[in-house]
Amino acid sequence: MTAMKRRGRLPWLAPGVLVGSLAPAVAIVMRARSGGLGANPIAEALNELGLVALVLLIASLALTPLRTVFEWGWPIRIRRLVGLLAFFYAALHVSVYAGLDQAFDWRAIAADVSKRKFIFVGFAAFTLLIPLAVTSTNASVRRMGYVKWSRLHTLVYPAALLAVIHFVWRVKKDIREPMVYGLILGTLLLVRSHSPFAIDARTDQAVEWLSPRHCAPASRLTSRVFQIS
Ligand code: HEM
Repeated sequence: MTAMKRRGRLPWLAPGVLVGSLAPAVAIVMRARSGGLGANPIAEALNELGLVALVLLIASLALTPLRTVFEWGWPIRIRRLVGLLAFFYAALHVSVYAGLDQAFDWRAIAADVSKRKFIFVGFAAFTLLIPLAVTSTNASVRRMGYVKWSRLHTLVYPAALLAVIHFVWRVKKDIREPMVYGLILGTLLLVRSHSPFAIDARTDQAVEWLSPRHCAPASRLTSRVFQIS
């Protein structure tokens, strides 16, 4: 089957993923308007947006292994969309925190980031996601070259790891739920590290992916994070 034919199938996939992924945001807004977010609506919205961001981030990481293991073509076609949706929810989460929870009091926000370790790692995760969202266009891939671009985009792994740590440190006692995400992420990293080559969807070129050289910055960052805790 030609690449053209493969691409032509499932025309509803991207619109379906987009509409389905935006549904939680719409539901949160509607519940906020009708008083359905409970006694502490800001905290509830913050938690729900953070959780959707994490789920989408991990889903975006699952798409490449799905292609590698099952040799399906469709996961790659929605990878960028799912990644951008994860960033969208993370940005909403951070905006609710800065705007509604902290009333844009930048001093209080800076104090929170520097004093509360779970906020610090959330901030670090979000910071790592920004260059990925900014360089998500085809023009960026062309400008940077695929190998350099894909190297930059391995930052998604430390970002996801930091987001899981953020969740673990936020819940403090019952860490079962965040650990489920940690386990899924660990499994995805394992699958990834055992498939030395990732297939580029656009060019069908094999490119070097998670070499130890690429992973080194991620592990350095992680050890720094653990040192500050
Ligand atoms: C500047 C960056 C960030 C800040 C300041 C921040 C802040 C917060 C705060 C204050 C809470 C707790 C709300 C409460 O207890 O009432 C929270 C929870 C959470 N955040 Fe973040 N966050 C940031 C980035 C992120 C990112 C990038 C993700 C995921 C991609 C994320 C995922 C979560 C999750 C999963 C929860 C817990 C949800 C739950 O308990 O159900 N956060 N965050």
